[in-house]
Amino acid sequence: MLVLGIESSCDETAAAVVRDDGRVLSDVVASQIAVHAPYGGVVPELASRAHLVNVVPVIEQALAEVEGGLSAIDAIAVTRGPGLVGALLVGVQAAKAIAFVRDLPLVGVDHLVGHLFAVYLRRGEGDAPPPELPFVALLVSGGHTAIYEVAAHDRVRIVGQTRDDAAGEAFDKVAKLLGLGYPGGPVIDRLAQGGDPAAVKLPIPMSSRRTLDFSFSGLKTAVARLVREEGRPKSEQALADLCAAFQHAVVKVLVDKSVTACERLGIARLVLGGGVAANRGLRARASEVCASRGIELFVPPIASCTDNAAMSAYAGALRLAAGERDDLELTAYSRNPDLRRGKVR
Ligand code: KG4
Ligand code: ZN
Repeated sequence: MLVLGIESSCDETAAAVVRDDGRVLSDVVASQIAVHAPYGGVVPELASRAHLVNVVPVIEQALAEVEGGLSAIDAIAVTRGPGLVGALLVGVQAAKAIAFVRDLPLVGVDHLVGHLFAVYLRRGEGDAPPPELPFVALLVSGGHTAIYEVAAHDRVRIVGQTRDDAAGEAFDKVAKLLGLGYPGGPVIDRLAQGGDPAAVKLPIPMSSRRTLDFSFSGLKTAVARLVREEGRPKSEQALADLCAAFQHAVVKVLVDKSVTACERLGIARLVLGGGVAANRGLRARASEVCASRGIELFVPPIASCTDNAAMSAYAGALRLAAGERDDLELTAYSRNPDLRRGKVR
């Protein structure tokens, strides 16, 4: 079975065709980074408008890369939330239109479930081996930072989450403070490589083992105070040191809490996902700590970590395999109220 996936929850317009075993046949992502960069963050109205411009060409390209094009497609899956509602609506309406015209089954999927199961996508070289269920997942992106216990596509339980900023958001805000441009994560990651994390003293946020929740706003404020009092770092080395110290503080708390979650839940499998999972410091520390604690670590390739529609298609394939369907009444939502109760659609 081939599923056409459509994703437009934030600032990427994406379409992909995925087989129900996870094999990715096409995967097209139109990024809006250039649209939002001047503002240092995603502007919802501009995102919706860019999705409107991009959605049809992106879907056409994803279909053109598959033998048989639209005629080969058996079902449509679309991200219905959480995300920016104006942005989600563009993908949801496109998916409904195609499903209606071609009389194809339609399933709405949760963006977070997409991220959590992206580790099962098969892209070829660089794929992580597929983990057995259950697993613990650390999902870290610009919009989300949480730890989940994942037992099945419809049995996902949040066990810890950020109380304020997402980790990616903290990277982006600190980069903005330091005048490093948007998105800030990749720049800080690169600069941190040449820095000494011990050279600058920053707090490790929420380091108590009692809670699995995160908080990054205090860390961002600590960097802001430093910049206010001492000005921006004056040498390349000082900038690299500050980036390394900030990244170390974020990565340490992400890894420590994920490992604590694995130990508390008695699950020795940890999956990383979301754009911040591209961070070299996070990958390195997670693999080091997991190896020392006997936890198997699964890190999908970067194309599967950042927003894409292949993950939506695969999450849709899981729902379809369970006999689940939506109809043309499908709506978009900005938050998923069911997540806390451990039931996700
Ligand atoms: O998952 P994603 O592509 O989009 C969503 O937010 O859903 O994640 C984007 C976020 C941005 O905040 C970006 O700065 C961050 O991921 N990011 C990184 C790195 N690459 C992307 N953060 C740290 N290190 C990186 N190498
Ligand atoms: Zn995402």
